[in-house]
Amino acid sequence: MSPIAPPRGTKDLLPDDAPAWRWLHECHATVADRHGYQLIDTPTFEATELFARGVGSGTDVVDKEMYTFTDRGGRSLTLRPEGTAPVLRAVLGARLEQRWRPVRVHYAMSMFRYDRPQAGRQRQFAQVGIECIGDRDAFYDAEVIEVAWRFMAELRIEGISLQVNTLGDRDDRLRYREALVAYYTPLRDSLCADCQRRLDVNPLRLLDCTRDADHVAAAPLLGDHLSPASGEYFAAVLGHLDSATIPYTHNQRLVRGLDYYADTAFEFWHTSLAGAQNALGGGGRYDGLAEVIGFPATPGVGYALGVERLLIVATGQQVAPGATPPAQLVVCTATPAVAQQAQELARDIRHRTSVIADLSHRRLEKKLRDADRIGARLALLVGLDEGLVLRNLRTSDQRMVTAETVVDAVSAELSQAAAEPAS
Ligand code: HAM
Repeated sequence: MSPIAPPRGTKDLLPDDAPAWRWLHECHATVADRHGYQLIDTPTFEATELFARGVGSGTDVVDKEMYTFTDRGGRSLTLRPEGTAPVLRAVLGARLEQRWRPVRVHYAMSMFRYDRPQAGRQRQFAQVGIECIGDRDAFYDAEVIEVAWRFMAELRIEGISLQVNTLGDRDDRLRYREALVAYYTPLRDSLCADCQRRLDVNPLRLLDCTRDADHVAAAPLLGDHLSPASGEYFAAVLGHLDSATIPYTHNQRLVRGLDYYADTAFEFWHTSLAGAQNALGGGGRYDGLAEVIGFPATPGVGYALGVERLLIVATGQQVAPGATPPAQLVVCTATPAVAQQAQELARDIRHRTSVIADLSHRRLEKKLRDADRIGARLALLVGLDEGLVLRNLRTSDQRMVTAETVVDAVSAELSQAAAEPAS
């Protein structure tokens, strides 16, 4: 029988990569907290309708990428492909916006999209994001962008470019839709099969096409169909970004691949990510989404960043922490008779640092070699005739300790190690 492989497009998080993963998540939570965003989490699966209506049929995410299944009760459910519709459902379902507006929440969740796997593109991936729900003001659009920007600055990732655009309001988009249909209709026969369908179902999605890129490049611009009010709103967002000294590019071709956006849309790009996968994350305003999923009209704005993509960049720039040893100290027994004493010592020292107890029946030299191999700094030898011995595994220096002095001795060794330059 051959070993069972992981499903295509999934990745295990192994211990060597865990410190970077944890660093990223802790950093996001800290920056979000600092801006008043509170943790939220939603179920991994939702009623299929939430995404079919919220994200929109005619989008690649809904038409091609959803993991949809029927449960034993005959309900159609879908593994969450994105977090905005579920978070909005959760917030409005709990009526949080009636207590305090806007509701500010942050999340770190797994997402599922049936896409062709490649570097930076998986079928299960993680996002960190925030949503600011319940108020409409350009100030919030800029705040959300600023949180993402400060978070990535805190990670010390360099080379990010912020692309911003406005998708206008519903009327702007209706006018623009007509302009797109007028432009694309004479080109119908030269379009790919997907675009022929998009022309009938959802013309705005024609701009997502990578195969008909020349047509996209020459297509009319939404910016030319904006009402004065939409133009002013966008100018206010840019003004707030200027005063936060966040640099941006106004990219008139930026449309985003999800249907719920109106007005502000933005993405963070990084050149080290290849091709279409160069977006580290994105977001925007989605004032129409609440009604589409059956709630009273409620404005909202947010972003999500791809964790795997951030880690690719952070690791490439050597700003992410590397593998760490499972423990700083290993308690090694010289004879099985002292196992209980060793456990008690381990318990005491855990008040100060991470400890593994090696109670196995192997020779002491072997235990010391393993302790060194896993990267522990110290070993405590228990059960030798002369008493307790604390050994520095880097320098091989040893000193005698007692049950009463061991914790202080460990502290002294670790403080000294922390003061040394990293090897
Ligand atoms: P999105 O642009 O679909 O937006 O996804 C955001 C980020 O998730 C992408 O920029 C990328 O870094 C990551 N991502 C997407 N698909 C994959 C994949 N297959 N593999 C690895 N990473 C991926 C949203 O999901 C919106 N909910 C963002 C938002 C929040 N808008 C408003 N609030």
